[in-house]
Amino acid sequence: MDFALTEEQAKIQAMVKEFAEKDLAPTVVERDEKGEFPMELFKKLGKTGAYGLPYPKEVGGLGGSYLAYALSVMEVSKVDGAFGIIFSVDTSLYGGSIMNSSAPTEIKKKFLEPIVYGEKIGSFGLTEHGAGSDAAGCKTVAVQDGDEWVINGAKCFNTNGPVADYTVIYALTDPALGTKGMAAFVVEKGTPGFTVGKVENKMGIRQAQVSEMNLENVRVPAENMIAKPGEGFKLAMATLDGGRIGVAAQGLGIAKGAYETAIAYMKEREQFGKPICKNQYLAFKMAELKTRIDAAELLLYKAAIAHDTKKRFSAEAAEAKLFCTDTAMEVTTQCVTMLGGNGYMKEYNVERMMRDAKITQIYEGTNEIMKLVISGGLFR
Ligand code: CAA
Repeated sequence: MDFALTEEQAKIQAMVKEFAEKDLAPTVVERDEKGEFPMELFKKLGKTGAYGLPYPKEVGGLGGSYLAYALSVMEVSKVDGAFGIIFSVDTSLYGGSIMNSSAPTEIKKKFLEPIVYGEKIGSFGLTEHGAGSDAAGCKTVAVQDGDEWVINGAKCFNTNGPVADYTVIYALTDPALGTKGMAAFVVEKGTPGFTVGKVENKMGIRQAQVSEMNLENVRVPAENMIAKPGEGFKLAMATLDGGRIGVAAQGLGIAKGAYETAIAYMKEREQFGKPICKNQYLAFKMAELKTRIDAAELLLYKAAIAHDTKKRFSAEAAEAKLFCTDTAMEVTTQCVTMLGGNGYMKEYNVERMMRDAKITQIYEGTNEIMKLVISGGLFR
């Protein structure tokens, strides 16, 4: 497997890195504190077409690779983990649902093109209060009425939900069939009966807006059905495989951000008459973290390259998500310790990174579910 980046991938990574360092870094502490959606910055990155990076040109995307997309999520997450998930949900969960669906090309183009340049924002509605890890426990229903579908139910933990122009809603058209009776629809903001419920007050990723989304007799035209009855669950699962690569990239970015902060600090900070990096116990700890980060990066590359080869990559994505996000938690926790009392203070950034890291082990499939996905393929 060749991990060398193409010229184009390296160029995109460098461009996003510059955006993260120049535009995101100076205000990230303040934005985390306020917990508001970073609309201006979201639109600024959008002008580059970043949110449509991995999608083909015929549907309005940039025609880039999934690896370039993963590296972009990683670069923003190094500085701002919340921005990483806003980006990832928009591109891989909303965009992925459209792209992986069997909808006609003109419908894909209609719902993908506006998100590519950040003119519109997408969200993904699968989870419900009674259907988290058990996504098949969905109770939202859709009933056909002439040329329309009428949707009733409630979703929760929708990242980007309150600000999204388009949300993909997974719903049962035949509840008796369970997952085999699931379809998917694009529901546009402002559709009567489609409302934002409780907006969550979270430990980390504070700028990402996460909410319930309620559906009461929501009518959508038949053309908004992107997955036909019976196709919805598989679309959700296949899309989550891609989403998990985004979360892996977010976790790896957060880990790298904390690691680089700690390295810089340890060279400067003196105790007992020398920089603390001269303490071999601490230096060895950093060596372990560096090795773990490098191993995580290889798994991320492997999963993204598997995505680009168009084969099923569920296990590769689950391994990358599991390892990169556990790495994020381990590295950020250790780096808070490396900075001592300062590590606990907001202006040193690592406490935010530690808070942001925790959710990466939970969403888009908990790391226990990742083990279920990986082990499911081991004994076939
Ligand atoms: N790709 C394509 N098809 C898939 C698939 C995949 N990755 N995974 C499963 N399928 C298919 C199976 O082949 C099977 O097809 P057949 O019926 O034809 O055999 C069908 O889907 C059902 O599969 P399972 O029997 O394996 O389904 P299950 O009910 O046992 O569930 C699970 C499996 C892995 C536990 C799944 O429910 C799962 O991934 N749960 C976690 C859900 C999740 O990640 N939620 C996060 C939502 S988004 C979020 O976090 C919020 C946010 O905004 C960031």
